[in-house]
Amino acid sequence: MQQGKILVTGGAGYIGSHTTLVLLEAGYEVVVLDNLVNASQEALRRVQDIAGRSLTFIEGDIRNRACLDQLFDEHDIHAVIHFAGLKAVGESVARPLAYYDTNVNGSLTLCQAMQQAGVFRFVFSSSATVYGPDAPVPYRETMSRGRTSNPYGTSKSMVEQSLEDLVHSDGRWSVALLRYFNPIGAHPSGRLGEDPQGIPNNLLPFIAQVAVGRRQMLTVFGNDYATEDGTCVRDYLHVMDLAEGHVSALGRLPLPGIHVYNLGTGQGLSVLQMVEAFERISERPIPYQFAPRRKGDLAAFWADPHKAEQELGWQARRGLDEMIADTWRWQRQNPRGYCSEINTTTQGISQC
Ligand code: NAD
Ligand code: WQD
Repeated sequence: MQQGKILVTGGAGYIGSHTTLVLLEAGYEVVVLDNLVNASQEALRRVQDIAGRSLTFIEGDIRNRACLDQLFDEHDIHAVIHFAGLKAVGESVARPLAYYDTNVNGSLTLCQAMQQAGVFRFVFSSSATVYGPDAPVPYRETMSRGRTSNPYGTSKSMVEQSLEDLVHSDGRWSVALLRYFNPIGAHPSGRLGEDPQGIPNNLLPFIAQVAVGRRQMLTVFGNDYATEDGTCVRDYLHVMDLAEGHVSALGRLPLPGIHVYNLGTGQGLSVLQMVEAFERISERPIPYQFAPRRKGDLAAFWADPHKAEQELGWQARRGLDEMIADTWRWQRQNPRGYCSEINTTTQGISQC
């Protein structure tokens, strides 16, 4: 059994729920703080069921300092993995204040509460978007952050900068900035996965909903990019690999300072390659039509993942077919996401 507990903010969400499961399976005690603005408690019920272990769930907001102080008072927290935030790029353009409030103010409030509680180990969910549109591929951690093109990206960059400044101001802090590329996939049981509200913004959830008959047709944004088939290229990685990357990063935290890692496969795949692979694995047609480019999209980027491999001993192990087979199993078994099975029990759940 590991020492102390891990606080997982946003632990009911897509990446947070998979990471919570991996933490429980690795023997950690986990406290999840989530306000459920984009998640269902059902995910946490299933996490506990799969792990055969229980966690502590607190329904609360990272911007609520009193809630955080109470949490740190009541639990011996060893480290914090901070997923909680808003993540829709388009929505961030329409509602910048909400994004800066949750993503920036929320992260700063959390750090203030940690500082007061004497907890200095922090893992932050950052994004490849911080490299900006002018960075050459593959992206490397030695490159500086670039300009951002939407409030979501800016909020990630602002938090990264704040954490760097914090670490430089106080040698007790140990912070991992994990820059995710494009997480897809689901737990192999088909019981946990990504459950977007409304029309999916991201490619894979959209394709999966077309395959299962919830949507008629995929719109492919742009076929005139300077890539092999004219569609955008991204570095898709399995959410279980990503979840394991967080456990690896925890192992780095005894070292004070700031530790920046790309979490990606190092391989770029085009939109059409993803469509073809999904059709092959699901044995369902994915009708699609081309439309103009989506504003803000970059033609192609992928990670140089070697630093994480060398320093964390982590690399993405699961290939494209596994990512898609797991996405498809989740979608088939839960055509309406967690909605189909909401467990209303409040046992073991506290609120603040
Ligand atoms: P998600 O929306 O599924 O999870 C975020 C969780 O945070 C949700 O459970 C939501 O209810 C919770 N939350 C939101 N605001 C909160 C608040 N004020 N207080 C407490 N809880 C709150 O998203 P995800 O895909 O799991 O992403 C997790 C993190 O990773 C986010 O910070 C996101 O920006 C970052 N990230 C995601 C991707 C991606 O493609 N999914 C890529 C790069 C970075
Ligand atoms: C992938 C490709 C689209 C939907 C975003 C955020 C990033 C990070 C991950 C997190 C692009 C194309 C998509 C559709 C399409 N976010 N596409 N039709 O844009 O690389 O990254 O998610 O928190 O910050 O920007 O991912 O899945 O939206 O798009 O053709 O219906 O699929 O144009 O080329 P993206 P995505």
